Amino acid sequence: MDAPFVYLNGQVLPRSRATLDIEDRGTLFADGVYEVVSYYDGRPLALREHIDRFRRSLDAIHIPVPAELDQLGGITDDLLKRNGYNSAKAYWQITRGVAPREHSFPRNTTPTVLVITYPAAPPDPAAPPRAIACVTHEDQRWSLCSIKSLMLLPNVLAKNAALEKGAQEAIFLRDGRVTEGTSTSVFAVRGGELWTHPADHWILGGITRAILIEEAKLAGVTVNESAVPWVELSKLNELFICGTTTHVAGVVTLDGRPIGDGRVGPVTRRMHELLMRRITKL
Ligand SMILES: Cc1ncc(COP(=O)(O)O)c(C=O)c1O
Repeated sequence: MDAPFVYLNGQVLPRSRATLDIEDRGTLFADGVYEVVSYYDGRPLALREHIDRFRRSLDAIHIPVPAELDQLGGITDDLLKRNGYNSAKAYWQITRGVAPREHSFPRNTTPTVLVITYPAAPPDPAAPPRAIACVTHEDQRWSLCSIKSLMLLPNVLAKNAALEKGAQEAIFLRDGRVTEGTSTSVFAVRGGELWTHPADHWILGGITRAILIEEAKLAGVTVNESAVPWVELSKLNELFICGTTTHVAGVVTLDGRPIGDGRVGPVTRRMHELLMRRITKL
């Protein structure tokens, strides 16, 4: 059995035969960007939005946009069929290409394009959102967090610190304010209203975040794109995280202390239902 198949630089190959050059700038400098897209019963959620964000990330680090960018939907569909995956997550990665190790941009390199698919259990739309424990962590990332960069070491370290404390996600604080999770956007609920960091250079503009903001407004819930100060965290009614593979998860404890009454609250449940409705309508 040759599966799983991956896509690398124009070729569909068994995973075991796909090899990256040791001088790929993704390896040497994390000089590349990526996307993750969820597929439900073979259908992607927000494909256009992911392609558009990928293009913005490429533009931001001056990688010429490869022709494959607009074909990623078709390339991924083909891989999912070959691999026999219905519900899956697709990982897309583009690096500046292969060149001897010099910091300056190499001339005439071709970007390396990689697509990997992973099977994923489809969510049960009738199930309640997951309840999770989180810890806070200093946001030690750079100031261009809106780029979906391969340079994830601060995220990896913070996530691991959370797991070591028995939590499932770390929530970053910068200058005393909540920015986002290591791989998730963060929403606070206070007085029935939603609060989330503005989509500026301190966070990744999450696609799930944007979907939830749209759905919340349609449902008549006020959304404040304004960062929550750390000192306010103890006064919140609810806190939740969201992302392409996380969906919506209610944060019931933060640094070991309960948020609200320590259970997933009604606004979090509502936002989870609205996201599940979007997914089931695909
Ligand atoms: C730092 C960060 N914030 C937020 C998100 C959530 O973004 P999306 O909803 O587009 O998956 C991610 C996803 O990987 C992320 O890495």
